[in-house]
Amino acid sequence: MEAQGQTVQKTIRQSPPVDLTKPYDAAWVKGKHIVITGGASGFGAAFVQRWASQGASIVIGDIDAEAGEQLVQELRKELGNTNVWFVRCDVTKWQDQVQLFKEAVRLSPHGGIDCVVANAGIAGKDIMQTPGDLSADEPPPPNFKVVDVNLYGVLYTTHLACYWLPRNPGSSPSSPQTDAAKTVRDRHLLLLGSVASLAGIAVQPQYGAAKHAVLGLFRSIRISSFMQGIRVNMLCPYFVATPILIRPAKIMLAGAGLGRVSDVVEAGTRFAADASICGRALVIGPPAKAVRAEDGQLVPSLTHEGDGEETGIWECYADDFAAVDTWTRRWVGLLGYIESARGWVGWAKDVAASYWAPTEHKQNKKTA
Ligand SMILES: NC(=O)c1ccc[n+]([C@@H]2O[C@H](COP(=O)([O-])OP(=O)(O)OC[C@H]3O[C@@H](n4cnc5c(N)ncnc54)[C@H](O)[C@@H]3O)[C@@H](O)[C@H]2O)c1
Repeated sequence: MEAQGQTVQKTIRQSPPVDLTKPYDAAWVKGKHIVITGGASGFGAAFVQRWASQGASIVIGDIDAEAGEQLVQELRKELGNTNVWFVRCDVTKWQDQVQLFKEAVRLSPHGGIDCVVANAGIAGKDIMQTPGDLSADEPPPPNFKVVDVNLYGVLYTTHLACYWLPRNPGSSPSSPQTDAAKTVRDRHLLLLGSVASLAGIAVQPQYGAAKHAVLGLFRSIRISSFMQGIRVNMLCPYFVATPILIRPAKIMLAGAGLGRVSDVVEAGTRFAADASICGRALVIGPPAKAVRAEDGQLVPSLTHEGDGEETGIWECYADDFAAVDTWTRRWVGLLGYIESARGWVGWAKDVAASYWAPTEHKQNKKTA
């Protein structure tokens, strides 16, 4: 299984689990042209601040024009980096995102985009779990805004990234063999998931569904993104105090630790800077001591004791391709084997049966 997993990993150009103890240089983002949605606040604004200070050029697409313009003015003044722009964009509107990417290419100092960060997101009261008046004739129409922003917005961004990144002038197909220190031109898509991509989240089923879907998008797209030479990575933060964290969530989490914006920025910067990281996901949680598990991975110490540094950044899917996705691949292989063994005769029988044979459901009804 391990050997087979490694073959698949090689074919899809997935890099090995991220060695978080390995140093990288944030200065490798210098000269990269980055598009980020939802960059006017929270993680987005913190990424923009960090990457602009390292000499990246950045286009922020956000619905909040006031905060976005203000951030751009502040950064230009503070850092002297004039290559930071704001474009008003509602990620749920396809044409807004089309315009954002066109504008980003027009503003790009080298005429292309190196990195796309699908970061815009919202949370909020979920009507599915607070239906209100149960004596009414019918429930109120649902508001699926959270799915619109957190899933459809991300799908639009991903679709546009898949179009523009391979067209990035001077870029080569992404690969784990890339020398990150010498690579400026890149083809990187960074998705913002959540711990709610990996586990259920109380009273926020829409948010959980959308973030699970982003994980599905990540796991699916990274299998074949090598065909466009794109590398795709994902961040899965635990709860962190940004404006998205609504009061009920803060109350529910009272007493438990939160993640830190600085760790989210650190993990995102490693991905953005190190062009050799392909197809990996990192979880960012409350700081904890690290211990080395039997398989060599660094994992959080549940007793708060350990020999490693305190950190909030962890690999969440270290062996997924070898241990899980390869299983899926084998399963598909088995189905393919059955199909070829049955050959054209089996195919013709199934087609004929789909027209003339009664379905199992109808047969059951007859015998009942
Ligand atoms: N803070 C957390 O606890 C946490 C945890 C896990 C994941 N995340 C994810 O991180 C991402 C960033 O969140 P944050 O914590 O920085 O929140 P935030 O509220 O500070 O920032 C979100 C940004 O998205 C923008 N935005 C919202 N709707 C938009 C739309 N329709 N079009 C364009 N922009 C829009 C907002 O204006 C804001 O600038 C989100 O995807 C969020 O789901 C956050």
